[in-house]
Amino acid sequence: MSTPLPSTSAAQTGHATFRHFPLNAWFAAAWDHEVGRNLLAKTIAGKPIVMYRTTKGRAVALADACWHRLSPLSMGKLRGEDEIMCGYHGICYDADGRATFMPAQETINPSATVHSYPVVEKYRYVWVWTGDPALADESLVPDLHMNDSPDWAGDGKTIHVNCSYQLIIDNLMDLTHEQFVHGSSIGHESLSESDFEVTHDERTVTVTKWMHGIEPPPFWKRNLQDRFPDYEGLVDRWQIITYTAPSTVTIDVGVAKAGTGAPEGDRSQGVTGTVINTMTPETDSTCFYLWAFARDWCLDKQVITTRLREGVSGVFFEDEVMLEAQQRGIEANPGYDFYNLNIDAGSMWTRRVVQRLIDAERGTDVEETTERAGNAAVAMTAVTEAANAAGANDTPNGTGLAAEVEEGVARHREQPTVGLMGRGL
Ligand code: FES
Ligand SMILES: [Fe+2]
Repeated sequence: MSTPLPSTSAAQTGHATFRHFPLNAWFAAAWDHEVGRNLLAKTIAGKPIVMYRTTKGRAVALADACWHRLSPLSMGKLRGEDEIMCGYHGICYDADGRATFMPAQETINPSATVHSYPVVEKYRYVWVWTGDPALADESLVPDLHMNDSPDWAGDGKTIHVNCSYQLIIDNLMDLTHEQFVHGSSIGHESLSESDFEVTHDERTVTVTKWMHGIEPPPFWKRNLQDRFPDYEGLVDRWQIITYTAPSTVTIDVGVAKAGTGAPEGDRSQGVTGTVINTMTPETDSTCFYLWAFARDWCLDKQVITTRLREGVSGVFFEDEVMLEAQQRGIEANPGYDFYNLNIDAGSMWTRRVVQRLIDAERGTDVEETTERAGNAAVAMTAVTEAANAAGANDTPNGTGLAAEVEEGVARHREQPTVGLMGRGL
């Protein structure tokens, strides 16, 4: 059942302690070009891992701790076609983590292995499965095909951020922060009137926002003029944010000449971008943020790829500064309960999805713990109650919004007082 809000539109939900990650998941450990005939050491989901590529091109991820005395294998070197040699006493392991050589003895202890993590290369990333290998289902890799499809062009970078990966998901699921965080770059103070809609299922959450007949912000005016150099008019603009568990967010963004049918699906008079974001927890309070911006216009123009990559990079640096400061604030206030606004609806659903995954792999009672620890669910309902109360006239029987939430759809007709412009993307 829902928990009625106090008379304000904020609720305490205990999120500050809701800050972990599942292990049965594919995490993007690196861009594909970063893994080669060298040893790349990274901590992924709390696990020290060493990566390299065999001479035949297979990407390998092994536990970065030698079976013998736990020395990091990343301090060793590659040997032969596919082996890694420990830098301390020389034990060698193959790409599956089995010892192939031991110093000063002929017999190899059959238990001498290091964990070999399942690896998939897809969409220009090397994905590592950090949990039970038997559950490593390749179909669970989030769909990021725009990153290597011939129908798209783009590029991106990796940022190491000293904050929980969940704070970046929060940041991406609610784009109202642009007006404030990106005020000196691409912030914009209009566009706060449009409704947004939140939908979700077991593994995804989607926040959709359309802005009809608006002045294009400078970023989008320039992009549209790449394709339609003479166009100076109004645009229809969209931001469709899709979260895929546990830590990937794609944002379908763009503008089209106003009134040319984009909301109905005809984007022929517009330009579309996809902001690809996949966050890989390093520890509970640090992460790797792999992002890219892919576009569907002027695919052969490297100058546009570079312009967009560097432009987005500058914007994301502004997020990084705020997110790291927020993490420090969280650590300075242990046990603090976050408050939630209507704008947090999308991120709260993502927290619920993550908690269910964690509960499932811990073998806990999902229903019970979702109610107890997954306060996001309660908070979501509370936010919806607020919207419901505010929009009571829309739903004379008083159940309309609640019913939509039960069905996985929450419509937030009441807008926050800040802009929903997003980061100008
Ligand atoms: S610690 Fe690796 S061989 Fe001894
Ligand atoms: Fe931002």
